[in-house]
Amino acid sequence: MSRIKVGIIGMGFIGVSHIDAVRRIGFAELVAVADVNYTLAKKKADEYYIPKCFKTVDELLADTEIQVVHNCTPNNLHQEVNEKIIRAGKHVFSEKPLARSSAESASTLKLLDQTSGIVHGMNFIYRMNPLVQDMKQKVKNGEIGDVKLVYGTYLQDWLLFETDYNWRIEPEINGPSRCVADIGSHWMDAVQAVTGAKITEVCADLVTTIPVRKKAKGQVETFSINTNAEYEDREVKTEDYGAVLIKLDNGAHGVFCVSEVSAGRKCRLDFEIDGTKSALYWNQEMADQMWVGFRDRDNSLVLRNSQLMAPEARQYTYLAAGHPEGWNDAMRNNVYSYYKFIRDGKAIGKDPCDFATFEDGHYIMKLTEAILKSNETRQWIKL
Ligand SMILES: NC(=O)c1ccc[n+]([C@@H]2O[C@H](COP(=O)([O-])OP(=O)(O)OC[C@H]3O[C@@H](n4cnc5c(N)ncnc54)[C@H](O)[C@@H]3O)[C@@H](O)[C@H]2O)c1
Repeated sequence: MSRIKVGIIGMGFIGVSHIDAVRRIGFAELVAVADVNYTLAKKKADEYYIPKCFKTVDELLADTEIQVVHNCTPNNLHQEVNEKIIRAGKHVFSEKPLARSSAESASTLKLLDQTSGIVHGMNFIYRMNPLVQDMKQKVKNGEIGDVKLVYGTYLQDWLLFETDYNWRIEPEINGPSRCVADIGSHWMDAVQAVTGAKITEVCADLVTTIPVRKKAKGQVETFSINTNAEYEDREVKTEDYGAVLIKLDNGAHGVFCVSEVSAGRKCRLDFEIDGTKSALYWNQEMADQMWVGFRDRDNSLVLRNSQLMAPEARQYTYLAAGHPEGWNDAMRNNVYSYYKFIRDGKAIGKDPCDFATFEDGHYIMKLTEAILKSNETRQWIKL
């Protein structure tokens, strides 16, 4: 069987991680990249020995060799580019959030309904960490009892200073929710994957801690520290921080907190699942450890070890215990699962899959909008 041919659109911060992930899949072959910034696309193509390089989405999609396309563009292009990929009859792997609004993501789902055979996947990475998969099995097997409480955070500091600026600050490009859509979406996806339950009610408090930011004149790279002295003031309409009370359809209650202005916190996604017998805690910045809490015996700190993990979770780990695995490896697991699904001729809606699909992405768009509405109306919102 020949290797699955791949194209990646968007060579910014996350696009390069997609190159790495695809290159780690033996039965996938990266044949092309595209970026509106052609100089950047060419640089990456040369650096990674990728044979073809394009400036536009249409040029890449016209290449008949390409079977799967990754969409790594900013949020305002997710719907348009995903729909172009689907219309071109290619499988689509999209960055999150699926769109800027649930109206946009609903349009993409409608198009998928009218098309057959497209495998759609999303890059919700954290659910693919080996210990998160182990937690999922522990919950499923009833090891922690009934899940009663779920809580955690996703904290970052890359927008702490008023001079920190990025396209994510601009609602026309980013969408009306920033923190919740950008990082809260990851938290919600991971927790829903572990508990096997859906968040169905939300009550939110969102805050813009920096109402006016200083945008540097000229181009600023995502997550870079800006040293340019020339700025213009920009009003900020989206949240820097959010606290969200949640209820899940398994009867559990919980809360999560997201922030992009918490000094010292880089990518602190963590969550605790409290059951009637024991509790599980995981923090992605220490991805190879899982805390297990007990009432009637000593707590334990479990180190990732494939030989001791639930059999179903072992496929998500490949290094021997003690050799750290982390974000890149979880991303590789996500991309691998998606490609394996395609290679094995499986179909979304018919065969079970462990990666997030566009349906999952659309549900998270609806949750994000419910959170915005709750903050506006100061009320619980039920989906
Ligand atoms: N899954 C994750 O953990 C994760 C992490 C970071 C970013 N993301 C998502 O990835 C997406 C991109 O984020 P980023 O941080 O890489 O942004 P970025 O600004 O660093 O990169 C975006 C790239 O898209 C290119 N681009 C813009 N318009 C284009 C067009 N019309 N055609 C082709 N290329 C175009 C830009 O030139 C840029 O190189 C966002 O939606 C973001 O939410 C996901």
